[in-house]
Amino acid sequence: MQNRSMKMLGVSAALVLGLTACSGGGAGSDGGDDAGGGDAAPEDMTVGVAMPTQTYERWLNDGASVEEGLEELGYTADLQFADDDIPTQQQQIDQMITQEYDALIIASIDGSALTSQLDAAAAADIPVISYDRLLTNSENVDFYVTFDNFAVGQEQANALLYGLGVFDENFEEADDAPEETLNVELFAGSLDDNNARFFWDGAMDVLEPYIEDGTLAVPSGQTTIEQAATQRWEQETAQERMENLLTSDYAGDEELHGVLSPADPLSRGIINALRSDGMGDTIEDGLPIVTGQDAEIASVSLIAEGVQHSTIFKDTRNLADEAVSAADAFLNGEEPEANDTESYDNGSAVIPSYLLPVEMILEENYEEILVESDFYTEEQVESGQQ
Ligand code: BGC
Repeated sequence: MQNRSMKMLGVSAALVLGLTACSGGGAGSDGGDDAGGGDAAPEDMTVGVAMPTQTYERWLNDGASVEEGLEELGYTADLQFADDDIPTQQQQIDQMITQEYDALIIASIDGSALTSQLDAAAAADIPVISYDRLLTNSENVDFYVTFDNFAVGQEQANALLYGLGVFDENFEEADDAPEETLNVELFAGSLDDNNARFFWDGAMDVLEPYIEDGTLAVPSGQTTIEQAATQRWEQETAQERMENLLTSDYAGDEELHGVLSPADPLSRGIINALRSDGMGDTIEDGLPIVTGQDAEIASVSLIAEGVQHSTIFKDTRNLADEAVSAADAFLNGEEPEANDTESYDNGSAVIPSYLLPVEMILEENYEEILVESDFYTEEQVESGQQ
């Protein structure tokens, strides 16, 4: 990092001295190819884009938007998905480095599994932008673009409490809150994804006082992130855990009122389990309140039908724009602009970050936020397909 910043200072100095109209020096000024060649145009530069999986709709959208944004600026983009397989992602990035790409945008599977790739990228003066998920245990991460992940968790918990009637429509304690203790179960994401902890911590920041004062109970007793985690964010895993919880803790007349779910595919797995257990088809007829994240079309459709209670919208078009601008800045010998230089310590360094805001989606606002802004058409919401 320091090495690179110093080199970048060198590039800026060269620019000030008018030595070269540099457009390829973000990664340093001594590369053997276009990366840092100093005179390369975007047309001569390739940016590697490594995405984790195609099984989540969001990563497909992210990949497409990043690719499009890079191509609009004239860069070549090489977009790769890794099927949630760590060795595949490592190999893809190794190849991008061997092929002397000019910058890398990486959404990792396991944030800590790419340290040797990051070392190699630094040695080759290739700037690395960590995309959505933080790359950890390495100082060779130049920039991080993401959403306010702690706020995602807080909003999920706010939505849950609102759905349970503990909060009113202003997200303040409701005057007519239920008097009985409300039973909830908690789900978390994959522990190798740094975001999972931020989501969990944000959610628990809101929920804990209500668990402590008896407003909420967690009948399974599974209240740690380790107990609640869903390895690789897999839908089947969440569905199975929900089925097991129903068998072990709700077989008698114990009622379940709500489930904190950190991502839409997991929410749909959980809803499958609840519906199969006869808990109702819609919230109106008894289905527990289930939260979510990503505003995937299938889940927005369920929200419109009163089945899934809520989700969190993260406009990935804006995240892609931020990643592309950051890459473009590095490749022009500049530093991208951070709006958070404190929150994301990756174990080796605090990574300068750009955080984007998030929005809670409910049955009453999906049209305004998602349809009127042209994120989805009403037909897509009706069909549940993009
Ligand atoms: C992302 C979420 C996504 C999850 C599963 C997280 O890192 O921030 O948007 O739902 O991964 O893919």
